[in-house]
Amino acid sequence: LRILCVVGARPNFMKMAPIMQAFAALGPRVEAQLVHTGQHYDVAMNHQYFQALGIPDPDVNLEVGSGSHAQQTAEVMRRFEPALDDLAPSAVLVVGDVNSTIACALVAAKKGVPVIHVEAGLRSFDRAMPEEINRVLTDQLSDLLFTTEESGRANLLKEGIADERIHFVGNVMIDTLRLNLPRAVPAARIAADAGRRGFTDGGYSVLTLHRPSNVDDPAVLRRLLETAVRISERVPLIFPVHPRTRATIERFGLLPLLDRPTILLLPPMGYLEMLGLMKDARAVLTDSGGIQEETTALGTPCITLRENTERPITVDEGTNTIAGSDPATILAVLGDVLAGRGKAGRVPHFWDGRAAERIAAIVRDWLERRG
Ligand code: UD1
Repeated sequence: LRILCVVGARPNFMKMAPIMQAFAALGPRVEAQLVHTGQHYDVAMNHQYFQALGIPDPDVNLEVGSGSHAQQTAEVMRRFEPALDDLAPSAVLVVGDVNSTIACALVAAKKGVPVIHVEAGLRSFDRAMPEEINRVLTDQLSDLLFTTEESGRANLLKEGIADERIHFVGNVMIDTLRLNLPRAVPAARIAADAGRRGFTDGGYSVLTLHRPSNVDDPAVLRRLLETAVRISERVPLIFPVHPRTRATIERFGLLPLLDRPTILLLPPMGYLEMLGLMKDARAVLTDSGGIQEETTALGTPCITLRENTERPITVDEGTNTIAGSDPATILAVLGDVLAGRGKAGRVPHFWDGRAAERIAAIVRDWLERRG
């Protein structure tokens, strides 16, 4: 049984690491091969990730790079098709919701190759978010759907997906988190390496921003960065800047705003560095999906700078609060967190480090039954 596993962008890498390991642990009957579409190509964005996570080198790299959504998705499809013909797998496994996910799922489905989607059923119900479109369509194309929280099953059933295709297995990203936590790089060391020794001594917060809805509009971005300055006056702020965000901050001339002793700007972090930053932060402010889940698993308060979340369990059970992009709301939620009135939260069911094991066993049995 050959399973072709696809990664494209940064948040895919940590999800695929435990899945590849779990397939390997099943023995020689199952062969998992890795395709990297090259959607993310920077060394800072990806080589480090592969190394730190112990992911094998990709068997194929499609090197698609950046482009408009249509260009990027089309280019992945165009280049993935011959790779799929060549490798002739029993199934294609995709994770998450990036453009590479939908592109490869669509190519496989049209060729009659079964599609397996890990992290299925998450819905923000906000079609302005490109990932939402990728999620809905990928799930429609999938034969086997693995969910991280039970809300996923309800969403999928409403969209007409048969119940027996859906398996609640937990969260592979949390498998990776638990495995790597002992190796997390302490925030104090990251600050010292950046020439700001002592920056974290009295506690610190962390900010990440990269959603187009937050960073592509100059007025919205300026308001968020001005809020970041006000946050930093209450608790020093570490801000690892995504390449997309770096480009727009520079284009809109907003960099001087952030030049303060209470703000530490960093390049995109490796996985173990980001883990260390999140673990000991007094608060994490983010528009990322994955970070909402990672902070819930770590018990670190998370303030989500979006109007909605596709991961409601992080709010219902975890440490997450949805604050949107309104400065007064963000600062009020932060005030509560700093005053010790934040949510305690608990770790959701099946976020126990064994999700990939469950997935590998179900995939093997399913493929064997199909013959
Ligand atoms: C992509 C995913 C998003 C995910 C995010 C995590 C889609 C639709 N979006 O967004 O869901 O949360 O990755 O990082 O798939 N760039 C670089 N180096 C790189 C990659 C990108 O400099 O290695 C810059 C380029 O200027 C590029 C821009 O970032 O144009 C956007 O990259 P892209 O892959 O289109 O989307 P992300 O914003 O990274």
